[in-house]
Amino acid sequence: IVFTEKQEALVKESWEILKQDIPKYSLHFFSQILEIAPAAKDMFSFLRDTDEVPHNNPKLKAHAVKVFKMTCETAIQLREKGTVVVADTTLQYLGSVHLKSGVLDPHFEVVKEALVRTLKEGLGEKYNEEVEGAWSQAYDHLALAIKAEMKQED
Ligand code: HEM
Repeated sequence: IVFTEKQEALVKESWEILKQDIPKYSLHFFSQILEIAPAAKDMFSFLRDTDEVPHNNPKLKAHAVKVFKMTCETAIQLREKGTVVVADTTLQYLGSVHLKSGVLDPHFEVVKEALVRTLKEGLGEKYNEEVEGAWSQAYDHLALAIKAEMKQED
């Protein structure tokens, strides 16, 4: 695939912006996930026993950060190598965690939509289709690698 320097820069720049307020954007990200797919709530240990998305929950923040950060790292790899390389052990871990939690393929689309909405919220007028395209492309590659690993472990 072709992932350009411009696309890599757009992803990096927007992550720099969102990174400045992790509590706010991780909350927004999870609120979007639950708005799109309310049933997804019960898969997350930190959401199971609450009625609302908890503020300042370390696990919630960790998952939001992982999704954004790993997508950003994927963008860098796509530009450098034209492909995604997640360390074997990391990929095995990601595969097993999601498989055990009951995550299914369609959930990855939910999370992608939530990611896009969070970018929109965070970037304001800096948001555009080019930014969305770059993040989507990187996310799709990462998600594909995790889904493939989940099938292999199944
Ligand atoms: C756990 C990353 C997509 C649901 C985790 C963990 C990581 C991770 C690293 C381990 C715990 C942590 O460090 O926070 C990712 C990445 C994703 C992705 C990089 C996409 C590119 C998804 C999707 C779902 C999901 C689509 C379902 C909607 C979960 C659940 C856990 C988990 C339920 C267990 C967390 C807990 O209950 O404490 N994920 N994830 N993840 N992930 Fe994901």
